[in-house]
Amino acid sequence: MCGIVAFKGNKEKTSEVIFEGLKLLEYRGYDSCGIGVIDNNEIKSFKWKGRVRKTEKRFIESKIKSPIAIGHTRWATHGEPNDVNSHPITSYNKKFAIVHNGIIENYRELKKILLEKGYEFYTETDTEVLVNFIELCVSNAKNIDKGISYALSKLEGAFGIVLIQRSNTDIMYAARKGSPLAFGRKGENFFIASDATPIIEYTKKIIYLDNGQLLKIDKTNFEVLDFELNKVPNKFQEVDVELQKVELGDFDSYMLKEIMEQPESLNQTMLGRIKNNKITLGGIHKYSKDLINTKRVIIIGCGTSWHAGLVAEYFLEKYLRVPVEVEYASEFRYRFPIINKGDIVFVISQSGETADTLEATRIAKKKGGILLGIVNTVGSSIARITDEGCYLHAGPEIGVASTKAFTSQLMLLLMIGAKTAYLKKNISIKKYEKMISELKRIPSKIEEVLELNNDIKKISKKIYKKNHALFLGRGNNFPVALEGALKLKEISYIHAEGYPAAEMKHGPIALIDSEMPVVAICTKSDEYDKMISNIREVGSRNAIVIGVIDKENEHVKDYLDFSILVPSTSKDFTPIINQIPLQLLAYHCAIFRGCDVDKPRNLAKSVTVE
Ligand code: AGP
Ligand code: GLU
Repeated sequence: MCGIVAFKGNKEKTSEVIFEGLKLLEYRGYDSCGIGVIDNNEIKSFKWKGRVRKTEKRFIESKIKSPIAIGHTRWATHGEPNDVNSHPITSYNKKFAIVHNGIIENYRELKKILLEKGYEFYTETDTEVLVNFIELCVSNAKNIDKGISYALSKLEGAFGIVLIQRSNTDIMYAARKGSPLAFGRKGENFFIASDATPIIEYTKKIIYLDNGQLLKIDKTNFEVLDFELNKVPNKFQEVDVELQKVELGDFDSYMLKEIMEQPESLNQTMLGRIKNNKITLGGIHKYSKDLINTKRVIIIGCGTSWHAGLVAEYFLEKYLRVPVEVEYASEFRYRFPIINKGDIVFVISQSGETADTLEATRIAKKKGGILLGIVNTVGSSIARITDEGCYLHAGPEIGVASTKAFTSQLMLLLMIGAKTAYLKKNISIKKYEKMISELKRIPSKIEEVLELNNDIKKISKKIYKKNHALFLGRGNNFPVALEGALKLKEISYIHAEGYPAAEMKHGPIALIDSEMPVVAICTKSDEYDKMISNIREVGSRNAIVIGVIDKENEHVKDYLDFSILVPSTSKDFTPIINQIPLQLLAYHCAIFRGCDVDKPRNLAKSVTVE
């Protein structure tokens, strides 16, 4: 995964460009951080396990000023996250240093060749194989361009790389196959980064390298080549992205801030899209007829975004009366999916950069689907390659655990569904307007749920020491159970499972005892009575049962150890409200356990490897 920032230009600027840039890219990984520079004709690397600030401090203390630098914040794929495996990685004969985002899949074969040539290895990474292979190819070709070109043509897997050469502060190469790289130039200052954010402070004119492109920066100029060294046309595009510096304010973590922001972020998602009790979605207007006429809807995403797709499946099938399939992007891309012309494919992604989702989008597009993005990050890769789409407008989400993006994804998908159902004449104008009025009330209902924060904290105190938890829901609240479990496991490291409540008796009920807290979502629904039976079943087996219930059904309290009473809403919209207490529950459990909720171990905000 990882974030890359590279710079060639004014040496007084190097440290700031690299480290401020890397801080913006920590969402891509934070296992380690490193910088490589050329100083006195040698490559010098400063790299440590841990966050950007640590490396920044030590680099500044070194007082080195170099006009050329490559920086990296890692999400380890090959080799444990430690100092040695951190990037940049220098080649065996110390001629090159590289930063790499991605995975070299044929590294074993290449390593064998290198071992036969006498190369030795000091790290466990695929990246060391890559830089050594480039060194070998350059030495064989006796020409740097030809050597790099040959090496790149032999690589399998995904990579975004930046390479520097010992004793040459004039030259820098970057290449892309799969992992994104953006390039910007201001006068004689050249910037490369995994996304545009580290660059836009200096210039808004960006070239996004395409797959199979090599960028060569030489003295005061640059060129974009293909891997066979043919020049390819390139054009700077003006990016319309503002750097939104997100302050923590009075909060201790971004996650809590983002949970608390949800009334506002949901209003932002609706802003300008609901007028005179009608929904207008400019972003997908061009395809509204296709949406009405489509015979099939496919939804792709990963993690929390996949859960949002599952909630949408219930709503869209109910009201559009077309089959809806929700797919993990990582599975979809490899299983020869069938896509018919006219199929609508919703692509859900907070970051817009998730590698599996991006590739699944490409595949679906090639096969003739109509790709509609449900994306938060403006200008991101998925937003750029989908046919049309609607942004969430939830604002930057910094916490690794997705919270406000999830509820905005639901809001947007429900709005699209309600509007399409109305245009299809599957619902009356009265029902349509009723839906809209209720959607508009959701932010204030969420404010009421957020007031329960202290009560939820008290409940969390009762369960945070447990090792396992089960989340149960039925119908459109089954995905809420899945998402509740994901939140708890990713930030508190408590093992948790989400289950359709009725499935529990087919196996998981064997796990129930007094050590297994069960979180049951039991607000108004068609399966409400059956849900109560499921609550009784786990209660009878001594589980600690925590219920999310609504005011219309307060009596369920009698069967619960702890209840969280949320405002009532339409059955179709309960998932948006019910998710909030589960976010808070996970948050407090993690805090009680002393976990870093914003940057949980082993995770990254944006998963740019497959
Ligand atoms: C959510 O809390 C996760 N950390 C993760 O599952 C995330 O939703 C997933 O990686 C997809 O990300 P995306 O929405 O940016 O594509
Ligand atoms: N595969 C490389 C490694 O494990 C790069 C990972 C990344 O993209 O951060 O070091």
